[in-house]
Amino acid sequence: MRDTIMKTIAVLGATGSVGTQALDVARARGYCVDLMSAHRNVRAAEALAREFSPTFLCMTDEAAAADMRVRLADTSIEVLSGEAGLREGIARSCAETVVHAILGAAGLSPTLATIDSGKRLALANKESLVIAGDIVMARARAKGVDILPVDSEHCAIFQSLLSGKREQVRRLLLTASGGPFFGYSREQLAAVSAEDTLRHPTWQMGRKITVDSATLMNKGFEILEAAHLFSVPATAIEVVVHRESILHSAVEYIDNTVIGEFSLPDMRMCVQYAVDYPDRCASHGEPLDLVRLGRMTFFAPDREAFPLLTLAERASTLGGGMGAVLNAADEVAVDAFLHGHLTFLGIADCVQSAFEDCLPYRSAATLEERMEADRYARDRARIYIESLG
Ligand SMILES: NC(=O)c1ccc[n+]([C@@H]2O[C@H](COP(=O)([O-])OP(=O)(O)OC[C@H]3O[C@@H](n4cnc5c(N)ncnc54)[C@H](OP(=O)(O)O)[C@@H]3O)[C@@H](O)[C@H]2O)c1
Repeated sequence: MRDTIMKTIAVLGATGSVGTQALDVARARGYCVDLMSAHRNVRAAEALAREFSPTFLCMTDEAAAADMRVRLADTSIEVLSGEAGLREGIARSCAETVVHAILGAAGLSPTLATIDSGKRLALANKESLVIAGDIVMARARAKGVDILPVDSEHCAIFQSLLSGKREQVRRLLLTASGGPFFGYSREQLAAVSAEDTLRHPTWQMGRKITVDSATLMNKGFEILEAAHLFSVPATAIEVVVHRESILHSAVEYIDNTVIGEFSLPDMRMCVQYAVDYPDRCASHGEPLDLVRLGRMTFFAPDREAFPLLTLAERASTLGGGMGAVLNAADEVAVDAFLHGHLTFLGIADCVQSAFEDCLPYRSAATLEERMEADRYARDRARIYIESLG
């Protein structure tokens, strides 16, 4: 039996950037980790499993799971496999909170499984909301499940919303670091490499989200995420470039008061907030020293150089399957960019082309239709890339 006073969590995507930071928090705060998941990285997952001794470890890749069963044969850890195994682990785990840090569209099924299990969802996987935010939020409301955002901007907005009533909110101010190419013209962007793109100025993150930060697609996804999480239209969300990544986002109320959350950029604070909410507990991170910081700067985003931001607003307004289309096309385009098959500017061209081809999916209402939109958008993005030769 687990100690019932100790907080018990599950960490999905435990080997990733957010997952490992969630485990840092677990170490520092003494949380018990009852379920972990990874995809293919058996070496890192085995080391983490031996350290945390979860009841369940799920490898979503079947071959990796077979390997893991051999590796962990000397332990009592139950190794589960595949998407179905992960859903089973979520249902059977005694974790109170599921920290969900799986990358990409593969995160949607565990999001729904967590809601169905009645556990609190500490959600980093923004793609679940981009693809099916309406369905996810409706199911969470029906089941009475709390979704606590782990994305730093949404964690900041969640906290800022506690200062007033929903009907008193005028708009959300979503801050963006601007990425490594802030101030670049399209001519300059034409020459950037994958290596340049993976050098983010303020955050250490996985490769996909680092590229998305450079194209501002990540900020676009965050508009869709915020619109669903906080029930606001995209027109009530303003993106503000803030180079220092200290104000993590804010809420403007009808009396012109702006309430924001300021701290050093550290995802561990967001994970801890989501797990401990409504408590606040001492953090092992560094406190913010405003005097040492000296100044903060704010700019409007350059929508001509970074057109994916405006495309995401369009996707949010169109609704239906357009979030799924945007996400799927972007996954294909970023992968092609990282493998040298697309230029940096080619990412936006590819996503825009697939988006226009997929407009009929704006009426995609069900999960099945969203998955169909996802598949079709991936095909269109691949065809676009192949057409470049
Ligand atoms: N990084 C950040 O600071 C940050 C901030 C805010 C939000 N987020 C969001 O958090 C999520 C994770 O981002 P990340 O940067 O931590 O990604 P990451 O470093 O690439 O880690 C991804 C994790 O997901 C697992 N995974 C990959 N493909 C999978 C699949 N098909 N099925 C199941 N699991 C799979 C990986 O397992 P293996 O290691 O075994 O491949 C790994 O554990 C994303 O939705 C991202 O947008 C990240």
